[in-house]
Amino acid sequence: MRKKIVAGNWKMNNDLTMTTDLIESVKSKLNFNTDTQVFISPSFPFLHEAIKKCKGTLINVTAQNINENESGAYTGEVSSSMLKSIGINSVIIGHSERRQYFNECDSTLLKKVNKALSENFKVFFCIGENIDDRNNNNYFNIIKQQLNNTIFNIDKIDVNNLIIAYEPIWAIGTGLTASPDQAQEMHSFIRKLIKDKYGSKISKNLSIIYGGSVKPSSARDIFGKTDVDGGLIGGASLKAQDFIDIVNSI
Ligand code: PGA
Repeated sequence: MRKKIVAGNWKMNNDLTMTTDLIESVKSKLNFNTDTQVFISPSFPFLHEAIKKCKGTLINVTAQNINENESGAYTGEVSSSMLKSIGINSVIIGHSERRQYFNECDSTLLKKVNKALSENFKVFFCIGENIDDRNNNNYFNIIKQQLNNTIFNIDKIDVNNLIIAYEPIWAIGTGLTASPDQAQEMHSFIRKLIKDKYGSKISKNLSIIYGGSVKPSSARDIFGKTDVDGGLIGGASLKAQDFIDIVNSI
């Protein structure tokens, strides 16, 4: 049985007080009977505090990035062992903003994924096409290429440690959500590629979540699709009630 997952990517938003307030608010509203795995991803400076605040709750805290090297002269970077030492064991890799603004290419992303998996991190690996590829009907090719260049170079996939996030770039932060049918079409395509590469057991058990302007009003229909196992939520995760409403939409 694959897991239902909702993760809030807070990106570069909120100071310490706002972060802790938001965590308290999410904690107070979350239904503790949920069998959905819930993640929040505040910025690096607040991860330690977030871990402490979420201890004993169902909320998992995840990092927004990781460096592929063990340690050393990499100014401004954060290693897996640093994250582990404060209790973080999951990370978002390959977000389109990292690819676009920080030039993270597929080969770097593969190194990051390998490093994170080797340290037993759970990895949210993001893929997605831009608007031109969508309009030119090239989106299946792009997604296939992104997978071939990255995680498909991993010999064995552990479904407990890898989650694919399909995030069409044209839907991120734009208010344009993929329709439930568009999401389903792509998720089932990705699942088919996983099946061809790793077999049906892995493909059936790997969670594929959708991201891109998910709102409480759109979440239920998107999450209702067979191959959509949850969401990676940006803007709407910054409002506790919206985030909880999305979690409750699964
Ligand atoms: P959005 O962001 O929900 O604000 O579109 C999603 C994401 O970037 O993961």
